[in-house]
Amino acid sequence: MALTLRETLPTPLDYAGLSRDELRERILQRKSERNAVILGHNYQRVEIQEVSDFLGDSLALSQEAADTDADTIVFCGVHFMAETAKVLSPEKTVLMPDPRAGCPMADFVTGQALRNLQEEHPDSVTVAYVNSSAEVKAHSYICCTSSNAVQVVETIPEDRTILFVPDRNLAHYVQEQTGRDNIVAWDGYCYVHDDLVLEELDKARAAHPEARVVIHPEAREDLLAEADEVTSTGGMVRLAEQYDSLILGTERGLVDQLRERYPHKTFVPLSGAAVCGNMKLNTLAKLAWCLDHGRHEVVLDEGIRSRAEQSLRRMLEVSGGWQAPSEEEEKLELAGVRPKGCGCG
Ligand code: 13P
Ligand code: SF4
Repeated sequence: MALTLRETLPTPLDYAGLSRDELRERILQRKSERNAVILGHNYQRVEIQEVSDFLGDSLALSQEAADTDADTIVFCGVHFMAETAKVLSPEKTVLMPDPRAGCPMADFVTGQALRNLQEEHPDSVTVAYVNSSAEVKAHSYICCTSSNAVQVVETIPEDRTILFVPDRNLAHYVQEQTGRDNIVAWDGYCYVHDDLVLEELDKARAAHPEARVVIHPEAREDLLAEADEVTSTGGMVRLAEQYDSLILGTERGLVDQLRERYPHKTFVPLSGAAVCGNMKLNTLAKLAWCLDHGRHEVVLDEGIRSRAEQSLRRMLEVSGGWQAPSEEEEKLELAGVRPKGCGCG
C-alpha cells in the first residue's frame, strides 16, 4: 500500500508493511520538516546506518549531540546514549524509535546502589562508564567511554581510590593500562562481549593468520591479552581504513558496516553470535513512525540532568571535545554578545 507523505499510520507495525524506499523517503522528508538529525551507533542495522546523518561510537555521538544545531535529535542506539544526548542538549527534543532499547550492562548499577558503595569508600572518586543511567552519572565525578577510559582515569590523583561502574572488564583493562591498584570495580558486564571466548579467537586466527586482531575493551581480560589492538568501535572503524584484514571482537553490526564500506577487504567477526538484541530493536519502520509522531521523547528530571551534565562535560573536556568557556567568553556571554556560548572547541 503506497502512502502519501502527509498520511501517518498509528503504530510502528503499520509502517513495517511499507517498502524500504517509502520508509527512507518518509524519514528524509520528516527529518527536514523537523530540522532533525539522526545519530546512529555503529551497531545499528545497516539500513539504519544508511539514513543516519552521523554514525559513531559513544564518545563521538555524545560530542555530536553536544554540538548539533538541529532542533530534534533522533537517537538510534540504546537508552543511555539517547539520555546522554538529552543531558548535553536539554533544549532539544530527543527521540528514540524504541524506548525498550536499553543496555543490560547499564542496568547492573542504580543510583542508590552506587551511593551505598560510596558510603563504604568516603574518599573515593567515582568514574562512570557512559553505559549507565543519568542518575548514576549524576552521582559520579566523571564519565568515560571505551575510547577514553584510560585517559580519564589518568587525570585522577594516584592516591585516590576509584570506584569504576558498571563494567568490570573495562575496569580491569584500565587498571592494567594505568598500573593502578586502587580501582574498585562494579561486577557488571556486557553479555555480548563477555561471551566472546578464546576458542573462537583461536579458530578465527587459524582461518585468517594474516588478520590483525582487534577487540573491544568490554571483553574479558584473557581475550584482551591476545589482541593486537584494544579499542572502541570508532577505533575499529579507523583501523579498517588502515588494514586489509581484521578479526573483530565486537558486535556484528560493526562488521556488517565495514563489509559494506570496504567490500574488497576481509572482516571476520570473532563470533557470528555476537549480536546486541537491544541495539537491533531499532528498525527503519520504527524510525519512520518515530519521526512521523514525534515519539518516544526522552524526558529527564532537571536536578539529575544538570548533575549528570557536569560529569559528562568533565569527560568531554579531557577528550578535547568540549572546553570550558574562558573568563572572557563568559563575560561576553553574560553581556549577551555570545548568546548561546556552549564552549565547544
Ligand atoms: P563504543 O563506545 O565503543 O561504541 O561502545 C559502546 C557499546 O555499547 C559497546 O558495547
Ligand atoms: Fe550494552 Fe553490550 Fe549492547 Fe553495548 S553491546 S549496548 S554494552 S548490551
